[in-house]
Amino acid sequence: MTGNEGKMREIRAIMADCGLPVLSMREAGITAEIEENGTTFRENACIKAKAAGVMADTIFIADDSGLSVDAMGGAPGVYSSRFMGEDAGYDVKIGAILKNLEGLNGPERSARFECCMAALFPDGSVRTSYGSMEGQIAYGTAGRNGFGYDPCFFLPEYGMTSAEIPPEEKNRISHRGKALRAMKDIILEYLSNNGSGRSDCEK
Ligand code: IMP
Repeated sequence: MTGNEGKMREIRAIMADCGLPVLSMREAGITAEIEENGTTFRENACIKAKAAGVMADTIFIADDSGLSVDAMGGAPGVYSSRFMGEDAGYDVKIGAILKNLEGLNGPERSARFECCMAALFPDGSVRTSYGSMEGQIAYGTAGRNGFGYDPCFFLPEYGMTSAEIPPEEKNRISHRGKALRAMKDIILEYLSNNGSGRSDCEK
């Protein structure tokens, strides 16, 4: 359940062998404005997955993701897209992070992209999955692939930012890809048990 075409492509590719049609929110005719007022990725993902309401024969999947910088106490975290103001460009958002980390080196610049996915099943249960991609905040920006904070996210094992590695490689190692593959296992388990009724999302 997302309006973002890039995410939809990734979801369709990973879910392709599940044998289920995958529709975006728009394709499903859902236009609800959802308030992401949770304080964790998991809370927000659950809020979004539950927003459409339980429906027969339909599994709603939602995600919430962001960049957590250790030296900034985990910020911008769930506020990644709103950091420095909803309308501020990524040059401004990234600039603020680089300034915050001035004087810090190597491991002191540790950060991760995080993603939580939540699925609402026809029996009303909600299950979540999680994925992260570890790295460091670079000393500047590099690369034109990706989006958002990718140009400042340095992957030590590649010696490049996540905006420099090929998109297929990023999908393979990304927080979203990992959360999505874990969610696929949860969905396959649900389908084979015909629903367990078990939830792992309390709110
Ligand atoms: P969401 O769409 O509510 O999950 O917000 C995610 C926000 O986190 C995006 O707007 C970006 O600012 C940031 N973000 C999440 N994943 C990535 C990524 O893979 N690359 C760069 N920025 C990301």
